[in-house]
Amino acid sequence: MGVRTVRDFDMKHKRVLVRVDFNVPIKDGKITDATRIETAIPTISYILEQEGSSVIVMSHLGRPKGKRDEAYSLAPVAEKFSELLGRPVRMAPDCVGEETEAMAGRLAAGEVLLLENVRFHKEETENDPSFAQRLASLGDIFVNDAFGSAHRAHASTEGVTKFLPSAAGLLVEKEVAFFGKLLHNPEKPFVAIIGGAKVSSKIGVLESLLKTCDTIVIGGAMAYTFLRVIGYSTGNSLVEEEYLDTARKFLDEAKQLQTQIILPVDHMAAVSFTEDAEPVAVEGVDVPEGLIGMDIGPRTLEVIRKALKDARSIVWNGPMGVFEFPAFAKGTLEVAEMAAASAGTTVVGGGDSVAAVNAFGLADRIDHVSTGGGASLEFLEGKVLPGIAALEEAQNV
Ligand code: 3PG
Repeated sequence: MGVRTVRDFDMKHKRVLVRVDFNVPIKDGKITDATRIETAIPTISYILEQEGSSVIVMSHLGRPKGKRDEAYSLAPVAEKFSELLGRPVRMAPDCVGEETEAMAGRLAAGEVLLLENVRFHKEETENDPSFAQRLASLGDIFVNDAFGSAHRAHASTEGVTKFLPSAAGLLVEKEVAFFGKLLHNPEKPFVAIIGGAKVSSKIGVLESLLKTCDTIVIGGAMAYTFLRVIGYSTGNSLVEEEYLDTARKFLDEAKQLQTQIILPVDHMAAVSFTEDAEPVAVEGVDVPEGLIGMDIGPRTLEVIRKALKDARSIVWNGPMGVFEFPAFAKGTLEVAEMAAASAGTTVVGGGDSVAAVNAFGLADRIDHVSTGGGASLEFLEGKVLPGIAALEEAQNV
């Protein structure tokens, strides 16, 4: 990777300002998935191992619209963070201001301070330079370990690099290494499995992968837009009429590039989009009138199994069906199991497929489960991630 990481800096006796992505799901004050906190621990522990160093951690949580809103306070995160880090974490009342500055100034070696949600100030998402400078004034060095927020050019991700020597954290380093390899130098055969509801949100990544992949599996509701283009009936399945042309162009391009596209050849369907709907097995590609395609069927799973058999690289983004309804989770579960069992390098990105892998207890068997939702998608689309680009451009004086 072209950026300097925490290992390239002398952090001894330094106060290190670390941007993490602690934007975790919270329900009734309790964190329901702490993965993003767990994955930030190696960087923070590494810094704290450097003699005399202390750490100031900052993050956003949710979208509080630029003003203080206790529903988006990082206080519940402070508790979990402290537990996982194995040392006390102090919580600042804000991310800027006199009291916060005084707390940061008093930090002793080995101490950790968590700032309150940076999005309590509208200047954060506006990437206001003087706000970024105020954040920067809290530390001696900046470390960005917030891969999940790397696609945001905000004051705490991008702006702050203009004022401090800046390094990538270990999580950012790992994410960039896995996704960078897939994007630029994947081991072949390279198979992508792309699912989810909408062509509109995945077309960028599909087009980018078309150039590097040998095979692309398209599942989830968005497969029905492609099946309609080819001429199959799709019943009452979700079809994005305004994306039919885009889907057609994509299939034409795939043919020219000789990239194999796998679409469902059978389905599990239902008469209504409800959790208690009776699953109906549809054995052919055509979905009969009155039915909604809800999951891929067993024959499709066999086709995918064959495609994955010799794959050396696999990337998976998006569920194969409505996996949150247990009767329609089989396709997503089996694909997750195939990915976990593969001898190739497997990378899973995107909120829903990561949630699926975690729910099925398979995360430990996947080479890399990304902490980035939008960020991993934009990376795979080949877009510049401002949080990473800023580290590459940092003067590091
Ligand atoms: C995410 O969850 O994808 C990141 O934390 C970014 O959050 P945002 O979409 O609110 O910027």
